[in-house]
Amino acid sequence: MIIAIDGPAASGKGTLAKRIAAHFGYGCLDTGLLYRAVARDVMARNRSLEDEAFAARIARTLDAATLDDAGLRLPGVGDAASVVAKFPAVRAALLDFQRDFARQEPGAVLDGRDIGTVVCPDAPVKIFVTADVEVRARRRFEEMRRLGEPVTFDRVLEVIRRRDERDAGRADAPMKAARDAILLDTTNLDIETSFDAAVGLIKRKIGQ
Ligand code: DC
Repeated sequence: MIIAIDGPAASGKGTLAKRIAAHFGYGCLDTGLLYRAVARDVMARNRSLEDEAFAARIARTLDAATLDDAGLRLPGVGDAASVVAKFPAVRAALLDFQRDFARQEPGAVLDGRDIGTVVCPDAPVKIFVTADVEVRARRRFEEMRRLGEPVTFDRVLEVIRRRDERDAGRADAPMKAARDAILLDTTNLDIETSFDAAVGLIKRKIGQ
C-alpha cells in the first residue's frame, strides 16, 4: 500500500503523514527532507543554489543517514530547498530513493509536492492537503515565535507565497493535485479533525 500526500508548505501534510503512517503501521518519508539536505550540502560548500550541475552531484551522493539532522527543519532551509528542487537533474537523482522507499511492506506514506503525480503515480490513495495561505502563514508564524525566532507575520506570509509560486510554477514536477487525488482543506480543521477526516477518506478508498 502506498499513500501519497502532497500539498503546499505549512498545510499540515507532514504531521498528517506521520500520524497516518503510525495509525496503519506503515513507513513514512518526508520527501522535502531530501531537497532540504541537498540545499544544506550545497550551502555548506559555499556554492550557489542556482548551480544545477553541482546540486545534482550533491543529490546523487546524498547520504540518507543525514536526513534526521534537526537543522534541516529550519524555515530558511525550506526556502533554499525549493530553489534546488526546480532543477530536473536534482529531481531525477532523488527519484529512485523515493520509489524504493515506497515499495516497502506493509505500506508507505510519502509526503511532498509531486508524490501523486510523478514519484508514485499508481498510488492507490492520494491526498492533496491545502489550506488558505494566510492560515498557513499564521501556523508557521506561531511555530517560529514559539521557537523564539524574531519574525513578523507579513514576512512569513511573503516567504510562503514566494515558495508556493516557485513550487507550483516550475516546469518539472510542479506541485499540483493528481487528477485522482482527494482534496483535504485544513483551513478550518485542527490536526485531530484533519487526521480523522484523512483516515475516513483512506478507509473508504481502500474499502475497509
Ligand atoms: O515539504 P518541505 O517544506 O520540507 O519541502 C521543501 C521544499 O522541497 C519545497 O518547497 C519544494 C521541495 N520539494 C519538492 O520539490 N518535491 C517534493 N516531493 C518535496 C519537496
